[in-house]
Amino acid sequence: MTLLDEVLGYIELDAAEQQLLRELHPRLAPYFGEITQKFYDAALKSPGATSVLIEWMASGLLGPYDQTFYDKRSRSGLPQHTMFTAMNVVRTAYIDKINELYPHAEAREVVRAVNKLLDAELAIMLRFYQQDSEDKLIARERRVQAEKLAAMQTLSSGLAHEVRNPLNAAALQLELLERRLRRVIDDAKLLEPIQLANHELQRLTALLNDFLTFARPPELHASDQDVVDIVRHVIELEKPLAERRHVALAMQDHAPILAKVDSGKLHQIVQNLVRNGLEATAEGGHVEVVVTNGVPNAFHIVVKDDGPGIPEDVLPRIYEPFFSTKESGTGLGMAIVHSLVAMHGGKILIDTSPRGTTLDIELPRE
Ligand SMILES: Nc1ncnc2c1ncn2[C@@H]1O[C@H](COP(=O)(O)OP(=O)(O)O)[C@@H](O)[C@H]1O
Ligand SMILES: [Mg+2]
Repeated sequence: MTLLDEVLGYIELDAAEQQLLRELHPRLAPYFGEITQKFYDAALKSPGATSVLIEWMASGLLGPYDQTFYDKRSRSGLPQHTMFTAMNVVRTAYIDKINELYPHAEAREVVRAVNKLLDAELAIMLRFYQQDSEDKLIARERRVQAEKLAAMQTLSSGLAHEVRNPLNAAALQLELLERRLRRVIDDAKLLEPIQLANHELQRLTALLNDFLTFARPPELHASDQDVVDIVRHVIELEKPLAERRHVALAMQDHAPILAKVDSGKLHQIVQNLVRNGLEATAEGGHVEVVVTNGVPNAFHIVVKDDGPGIPEDVLPRIYEPFFSTKESGTGLGMAIVHSLVAMHGGKILIDTSPRGTTLDIELPRE
């Protein structure tokens, strides 16, 4: 509307001229069909559109110059270059007819008013073409971005797969070397570099595995599972890590809870949360896992630790890929959790304070 007001103000189509246009209507209307023909001969062969054009000519002369008027001109449906030539056809036809229909002195006034009206219509249509091409540009940019990301993901997961093989081979050879060395001499100093290298290789393998999960979130293969059993299994596997860190890892027992889940992915979710819990707590700390039924038709996996909590400035960034406050963290754990929970249609609730952190994962059972 503001553009319409601006345009009308700019061309100074005053009340007297608007009156002239309205009076022109009954005289010019009988020729609309003829003009339309000329218009489409000049623009494009488009039968069936004539009634639209007649309406357009009528509402141009009669007004009112309101939102409907504006909207109609914003959607002419004609290509830009066609619209220009076609408008000129209409203009010339109008002027010819006016000169026939009006006495000379009067005709000049009416032509002036018509010119202003058609200029206003042009201005509105041009604005639309500009908007339209801007929208198309944005859409194209988005498409290019998405394609680039997909190409990047393919490329990087391909590379990660390629890196994994030599990495495994190197780890294997290192293990072999260590065994042979041990057989000859038992010198801790000599073995230390091997163990350090081994540790680095393990870290690299872990990073690679995390990265692969993240770069290529695999499809969901959901089936009926007892989620309590899946969680219990993860806890058993993480027990050695907990013992090494001198953290008590416990799970509250619960009757089976059946749900349609991807067991491998649920495993990954719980493993990442438990590891974060273990890594957050100091020696003598506790990590507790609880699985419960939820409403309606949902279940919860709650991982609770008595670590120092997530600082306020860290909290908004935990799902960011590669964001980590740990010296050897990959920063992919929570990004993976987030994407896998989202794949299941679930929710993550975080409650954190200096006394500890609780991560509550709510997942639908179906
Ligand atoms: N239970 C927790 N207690 C405190 N901080 C946490 C906890 N879980 C996650 N965080 C914070 O979120 C960050 C990102 O976690 P994550 O994505 O798993 O990466 P990483 O464990 O490799 O650092 C961690 O570095 C840590 O700062
Ligand atoms: Mg982690």
